[in-house]
Amino acid sequence: MSIISNKEIFFKHIAQTSKAPIGLEIVKAEGVYQYDSTGKKYIDLISGFNVANIGHSNPKVIEAVKQQAEKYMHLIVYGEFIESPQTGYAKLLTQHLPSNLNCVYFTNSGAEATEGALKLAKRATNRTNIIAFNKSYHGSTQGALSVMGDEYFRNAFRPLLPGIIHVDYNSDEIFELINENTACVILETIQAESGIAIPSKKWMQQLREKCTEQNTLLILDEIQAGFGRTGTLWAFEQFDIVPDILLLGKALGGGMPLGAFISSRDLMQTLSFNPALGHITTFGGHPVGCAAGKAASQVLLNNNYIKNVKSKEELFLSQLNHPLIKRINHFGLWISVQFDSAETAQNIIHNCIKNGCITDWFLFAPDCLRIAPPLCIKDEEIMNACSVILNAINDQQKNFA
Ligand SMILES: Cc1ncc(COP(=O)(O)O)c(C=O)c1O
Repeated sequence: MSIISNKEIFFKHIAQTSKAPIGLEIVKAEGVYQYDSTGKKYIDLISGFNVANIGHSNPKVIEAVKQQAEKYMHLIVYGEFIESPQTGYAKLLTQHLPSNLNCVYFTNSGAEATEGALKLAKRATNRTNIIAFNKSYHGSTQGALSVMGDEYFRNAFRPLLPGIIHVDYNSDEIFELINENTACVILETIQAESGIAIPSKKWMQQLREKCTEQNTLLILDEIQAGFGRTGTLWAFEQFDIVPDILLLGKALGGGMPLGAFISSRDLMQTLSFNPALGHITTFGGHPVGCAAGKAASQVLLNNNYIKNVKSKEELFLSQLNHPLIKRINHFGLWISVQFDSAETAQNIIHNCIKNGCITDWFLFAPDCLRIAPPLCIKDEEIMNACSVILNAINDQQKNFA
C-alpha cells in the first residue's frame, strides 16, 4: 500500500485558493514561533494575519478552551439561550468600548460580521445605498465582496449587491456623495490590504460629522486593526471618533473562529422584528470561541503589550534600512515594506520564509512585504527577524545585480 504524504493530500484533496500556496506543514506553534514537520523553527511575522496578537498557544487561552469544552460546546442557534461565555465576553468588550457600542452580535467570522452590519444599516435606516472604498477588504462572501474595493476580485462573481459606490480612501470626494439615501459608509480605520494606508485625522472627523448630519451610519472595520495592533486597543481612538457600528474578528477569538458587529442596543434591536430573526447564525458566538477570545483579551489587557507597541515599531523601523526598500508604511506593529516590483517582493518573501521568518504580501499591494508580529515579540526577536529580512534583500540585490 502506498503511503500518501500530507503534502500530496493537501494538493489533491484540500481546495486551493491560489496556484502558489506557501505550503508549510506546521506541527506546533508557541509564542512568536511556529515549527514545521522537520523540526525547523520559524518566527511568525504576520500573526496568522493579525489573529495571534498575544502569540500562539497562550496557556490561559488553552485552559479556557479546555474548561469550556468540558462544560458544553454548541447548544442551540445564536441568541436563544443565555450562554455565559458570550455574556462574559460581551461584558468585557463593552467595558472597553465607548458607551454607544454597548450591544454585541457575535458571528462566525469577519465576513459574517460585515454581512450583519450591512443588513443592520439597511434595516435601521430604511435606506439602500452604501459607500465603500477602493482597495478595501471586508471579507469574501457576496455582500462583503460587493463592498470590497477591487474589480479584479469582484468581477467574476457579478451580479453583486446593487447601490454601492466606491470612492478613494482619504479623499474629499466622499463628502459630496453622502446623502439622505446613504444607509452607511463602511471603511477600515486603517486600510490594510493596500499596504497600510492611514487616513488623516481631519478627514476621519469630517467623515464622522457628515455621516451624523445625514443620519448615515458609520461602520468601522477593525478586524485587522483592533486589539492593540496600532498601539491603542482600538485604532479609532487615535482619530477621536466613534463609529455607529464596529466590526471585529481575527484576534477577537484568541485563535478560535469568531467575529462580531457591535452597535447600540437601539439600533441592534431592529434585527429582532420586521422581520424577526433579521440575522441568524448557528455557530456565531460559539461558546468555546467566546471563552478563548475573552481569555486572550484579558491577557492583552493585563500585560504591557499595547503600551510597548510604539517602541517595538520604532525598533523595526530603525533596522529596516536598505537601498532596495522604496517606502515603508507603518501604524503600530503593522508595517508594509515596499520594493520596486511584486517580483522583487515575492523573491524576498520566499527567501525570508526559507530562512525561518514567516512573512507575506498584501492583497492589493503585492510589491510590499507584510510585518505584523504577535505584540509579545521581544526586542532581540525583532533584531533577528530584521537580519533575516535584510539578508534576503541582500541576496536579491546580489542575484539581480
Ligand atoms: C479588514 C478585514 N475585514 C474583514 C475580513 C474578513 O474576515 P474573515 O476572513 O474572518 O471572514 C478580513 C480578513 O482578512 C479583513 O482583513
